[in-house]
Amino acid sequence: MRLTDAEKAMLDGRHGPAKARAMDLLVRYGEALDAERLVETKNVAGTMGSATPFMRAYAERGFDSVFSEFNLDSREVVETPPMEAATCQLISGIDMKNWQHQGVSRELVETQERSETFFASRGVNMMATCTPYQVGNVPVRDEHCAWMESSAVVYCNAVLGARTNTEGRESTGAASLTGRIPYWGYHCPEMRRATDLMRVRVPVEDMMEWGLLGYHVGEVVQDEVPALQGTGRAPELAWLKHFGAAASSSGGIEMYHVVGVTPEAPTLEAAFGGGTPRRVFDYGMDERRSAYEHLNSSARDHAVDFIMLGCPHVSAEQLLQVAALLDGKRVHENTSLWVHTPRDIRESAQSRVAADTIRRAGAMVMSDTCPAISRAMPQGTKVVATDSAKQAHYLPAITGVQTWFGSLDDCMEAATTGRWSGSLR
Ligand code: F3S
Repeated sequence: MRLTDAEKAMLDGRHGPAKARAMDLLVRYGEALDAERLVETKNVAGTMGSATPFMRAYAERGFDSVFSEFNLDSREVVETPPMEAATCQLISGIDMKNWQHQGVSRELVETQERSETFFASRGVNMMATCTPYQVGNVPVRDEHCAWMESSAVVYCNAVLGARTNTEGRESTGAASLTGRIPYWGYHCPEMRRATDLMRVRVPVEDMMEWGLLGYHVGEVVQDEVPALQGTGRAPELAWLKHFGAAASSSGGIEMYHVVGVTPEAPTLEAAFGGGTPRRVFDYGMDERRSAYEHLNSSARDHAVDFIMLGCPHVSAEQLLQVAALLDGKRVHENTSLWVHTPRDIRESAQSRVAADTIRRAGAMVMSDTCPAISRAMPQGTKVVATDSAKQAHYLPAITGVQTWFGSLDDCMEAATTGRWSGSLR
């Protein structure tokens, strides 16, 4: 791989041992990918610190050893210097305020607190969400980034027009210290062009419909780049957020185009970069029904223990919407409702009012985590309902619970009655 003089200086250790380990990792990673060079990045979203079991073990030997081994792949413990690139922390396993409801020990919470203090002192912005773009990290078009988390990656590429591959804990750690990431995959313009055309034949005009569409697109397109045509009225932020999360769960989609909507697809021709589709698919009533049935295939019992909202984390606007739907109502005594939102949104004045309404109804506003990441749900949960195709995809596989998927209204009905009565209308 070709390195610039500045990169060679980092590799040679002229900027300290941590940057040398980071550059060594990036060179090994880049060579494995056949990348010819690195590219500069000023925007990293990764996992710099989190209170997982391995972290607890290593915390006794200090966070430098955690960062060395798990972010730099270095057996030698090196001191963690300040981050070179602007770096934010994605989601972790613990809600730092409501951890008792997750069944987490105080010891683990205190470790997590020390971890946040340590990495914040190195310049990491502790956003603690899978949606950094909802709380201030909004890269500009064509900006090279190094992001983890599939739903964030696909939003970054497709909706914002910035450029990232799905990075890992190690590569984002190395990127944060060097301001570099291998130049390959979705950093390259030719890799961002559409490969497959999806002709949408049914109206997609709410979040559930975009979730179903995303789930189907991921299943058939897998890790190619789809262009969607015929989606009708301009989608809202939340709809695209759910579309990308679903498509990157059932498939491995990291980039897509919605013709006339997303920034690299003002026209169909532009989406394909002047080329022609390799494959053409149709999305109609049969495909919609099949996606719905697939997402509900684990569910049998209509008595619902737990309603999970906020995968990906809800925006301030969505939090207000949930509060309005719960205003004056009460969550059923046999059911729990958790709404997940970034901590910065939960703490804002407007959201605190919404959160009060939600709490008055007997529900919880959670931050920093989600059940698929933490495996934490209300005690005894066997049946879950959610408006998220991504959560419905992962929860049965990860935790063995039955999971109903449906609209926000279906979920609210389940929350107040304790029973699932959703259906495909
Ligand atoms: Fe976020 Fe967890 Fe869903 S990380 S995208 S809420 S699975």
